Amino acid sequence: MTLLELGFDEAGEGPVLLLVHGFPLDRTMWSAQLEGLSDIRRVVAVDLRGRGSSPDPAEAPEEPPDEPGWTMDTHADDLARLVDTLGAEPIDLGGLSMGGYVAFAFLRRHPGKLRSLILMSTRAAADTPETKQVRERSAALAREKGTAALAETTLPRLTAPGPTATVRAKLEAMLLATPAATAAADLLAMRDRPDSTSDLASISVPTLVLHGEEDALIPLNNARAMAEAIPGASLALIPGAGHMAPVEDPAAANAYLRDFLTP
Ligand code: MLT
Repeated sequence: MTLLELGFDEAGEGPVLLLVHGFPLDRTMWSAQLEGLSDIRRVVAVDLRGRGSSPDPAEAPEEPPDEPGWTMDTHADDLARLVDTLGAEPIDLGGLSMGGYVAFAFLRRHPGKLRSLILMSTRAAADTPETKQVRERSAALAREKGTAALAETTLPRLTAPGPTATVRAKLEAMLLATPAATAAADLLAMRDRPDSTSDLASISVPTLVLHGEEDALIPLNNARAMAEAIPGASLALIPGAGHMAPVEDPAAANAYLRDFLTP
C-alpha cells in the first residue's frame, strides 16, 4: 500500500464532484468544469499519481525504489484516500477515458463512496491483444525518447478535426508535461485493466454516459452499448466534438453535466 498525497484544484462548495483526467493528461483539462459547475458542486479536479501536482511514487519516501508501476486499482485506491481526506463521501465521480477505467475500478473497490457516476469518452471492454501490443510499444517509446515522442500519434486523435489553437495548445502542454515514466506506467496499467462489461448491469447509482460524436479514439458505439447496459443510465452525445469533448465543447458538456447533477 502506498500513502501518496494527490494534488488537486477545487472550486465551489457542497457535495463533491471528483473529476479524473485521461491519458496522458492532468487535472488542468477540467478548468472549464471547475469554472462552470462550481455553483452546484465542490468540483475537485485531481492529478493521478506521477504527474502535475501529484508526486511520482519513485520520489515518494514511502515507496520502494524499484516501484514497478501501478494499476487502475492503485489509482482508484489513491482516489478513495483523497475522498476520505476531503471528508466528502458519497461523491459524484466523473472519469474521462483512462479516468473512466479508473472509475470502473473505483466502482468495484469503493462502491459505498459513490453517489453517481459519469463515464466520459470511455469504454467498458478490455484491450484487444493487438491494442496490448501497441501499449507495450508506446510505453517503450516513451521510456526511450520521452513523452514528446507520443505527441505525433496521440494529439491528432484526441479531438475532432480542426480543434482551436487554444484547445490544441492546452492538450499539447499537458502531454509534454507528463513524465515519461508516468506515461509508460499508465500505458501498461491500461493494457492490464480488466474487462468491466460484466459490471455494467449491476451499477446501481445514477449514471451519465457522455461522448463526443466524432471520437476517433473510442468510437461512439461503446458509449451507446454502455448506456444500454447500465440500468437507467442517460446518454449525452456532443455533436462536433471528439475524444476530449469537455475541453472541445465545454458549454455543451457542462450543460449535460448540470442537468444530470441537478435533476
Ligand atoms: C485516454 O484518453 O485516456 C486514452 O487514450 C484511453 C485509451 O488509450 O484507451
